[in-house]
Amino acid sequence: MTASIIDGKEFATRLRARVGAHVARMKADHGVTPGLAVVLVGEDPASEVYVRNKGRQTVEAGMASFEHRLSADTGEAELLALIARLNADPAVHGILVQLPLPAHLNADLVINAIAPEKDVDGFHILNVGRLATGQKAMVPCTPLGCLLMLREQLGSLQGADAVIVGRSNIVGKPMAQLLLGESCTVTVAHSRTRDLPAVCRRADILVAAVGRPRMIPGDWIKPGATVIDVGINRIDAPERGAGKTRLVGDVDFDSAAAVAGAITPVPGGVGPMTIACLLANTVTAAARLHGLREPEGLSA
Ligand code: GUN
Repeated sequence: MTASIIDGKEFATRLRARVGAHVARMKADHGVTPGLAVVLVGEDPASEVYVRNKGRQTVEAGMASFEHRLSADTGEAELLALIARLNADPAVHGILVQLPLPAHLNADLVINAIAPEKDVDGFHILNVGRLATGQKAMVPCTPLGCLLMLREQLGSLQGADAVIVGRSNIVGKPMAQLLLGESCTVTVAHSRTRDLPAVCRRADILVAAVGRPRMIPGDWIKPGATVIDVGINRIDAPERGAGKTRLVGDVDFDSAAAVAGAITPVPGGVGPMTIACLLANTVTAAARLHGLREPEGLSA
């Protein structure tokens, strides 16, 4: 069997178009322009790229983008004061503090200072608790993107055996909550799991989020399974020339695609969905803050 490829780039383009259409209606009918504030502390090059892309796509969707760049030695009090201002600013509906923060800043403290209704990353402890208890929450963007792709690919996920490899707060744990919410039978596996290949082979839905390049080969995959590869790993690619690199996932794509029913590629799978879901979360937050209709099918 050769897997069908789940095209996250194309899906994200459609998602952004739906977000843009909803934004246009909010502006025309209610005079509300959703606004997203992104806070970047320091000069991490990868974070710079993310923040630039976020800002560009926010504006392309018709929303307002506010970028706050602070120096790497910014103190906690200064950062918390900025968050307090953004919490109180009626033009700001979503607040994202780019992670990782410099080591001298306490990320938990900073994230929990964001107003939960503006926490478009879904990292605030109240949103984590709401998701875990089945209450209306802001949901982390990457697992939300995975869920939307799975729903489109499979329709109902009810009763499916889902295995998530990775237990991070950003992907593994919220993914488990979302799939439980879809009535999957969920296993969260990780680096200490005994006989990981056998656990993976049980999965109708396999979500790989460990951050280890091509760790999961095709013979760990159940024939016909749907494979979502969250990993984005940069590896040396001498075959492309001296000093060249390329991106690979946590799944060994070629051997997996020969067994799976459907699979997301890297790049072009989950990655593009993350920012699209951030835009969707910002519109959802704006709608909730103003008591307006939320976009349909763009939340958990
Ligand atoms: N750094 C890498 N990914 C993310 C993300 O999804 N949210 C935030 N806040 N920081 C990140």
